[in-house]
Amino acid sequence: MKVVSGPASIELGEKVSENLGVHNIPLESKVFPDGESYLRYVEEIRDEEVVLVQTTSPPQDTRLVQLLLLIDAAKKLGAEKVTAVVPYLAYARQDKVFRSGEVVSAKAIARLIEAAGADVFFTVNIHAPSILDAFNIPAHNLSAITELAQYFKRIGLEDALSLAPDIGAVEIAAEADKVLGGGYGYLRKERDRVTGEIAMEDVKLNVEGRNAIVFDDIISTGGTTAAAVKILKNQGAKRVFAACVHPLMIGEAEKRILENGAEGIIGTDCVKNKFSQVSVAPVIASAVSRID
Ligand code: R5P
Repeated sequence: MKVVSGPASIELGEKVSENLGVHNIPLESKVFPDGESYLRYVEEIRDEEVVLVQTTSPPQDTRLVQLLLLIDAAKKLGAEKVTAVVPYLAYARQDKVFRSGEVVSAKAIARLIEAAGADVFFTVNIHAPSILDAFNIPAHNLSAITELAQYFKRIGLEDALSLAPDIGAVEIAAEADKVLGGGYGYLRKERDRVTGEIAMEDVKLNVEGRNAIVFDDIISTGGTTAAAVKILKNQGAKRVFAACVHPLMIGEAEKRILENGAEGIIGTDCVKNKFSQVSVAPVIASAVSRID
């Protein structure tokens, strides 16, 4: 088995190689003046089992095309098996039709990855596990929540309440609670399907004088997490943190969350930026080492 780090996940791919104790195959990559990607495997991969790590956080269209090109080329170059590891799967939030005529992007992207030639697919905390049903190849959803919760335990936040900002994230909060042990709960959120505006119900949480962490899969504009942080602080929570697997952190997301009273924002390197304090490399390496 050999690991290839796609241009979007160079550091993470190297960490996965280190965790597995296997060679990391270098890629040559550059961007043409018109924005298209040039990619080249600089070592022989014929008959190899290739684990390709490429996240698809913004710029997601470019990174998706790079992913598809690399899978396709690996097969053409004779790789025996191509395992596509896509820590953040772009377009996953549109997983069903909410308004008639909508594109279901999540399933379309799944079909493209398979059509490019992937033999096995891994992602991390996918927005909706049902997206995996669109694959005919083995497709696995890993979780980085235990690692995120352990981070908070290490910094002294054991017994914190694990709060999901909406019912969709309640399993994430429950998973975090297995490490932190302070109980878990969820809020109720409604999103306007046209404007994207959210409304959050002020559910009574019994957090007065307690620490709390808002856990979500994705922080994008920060609106969801900021609203949850605000409710916690208004109800007298002591220290409040925000945690997510995929810190997209678009625009004023950081400002919105901190202004509402969070002390910090912690994410993983599924999306690499200053918030990615927790690495998913051990989770990926362990899962990949178990495939046949
Ligand atoms: C949606 O259900 C997701 O789990 C996140 O809550 C959402 O993507 C966060 O988006 P934003 O940060 O823009 O509120």
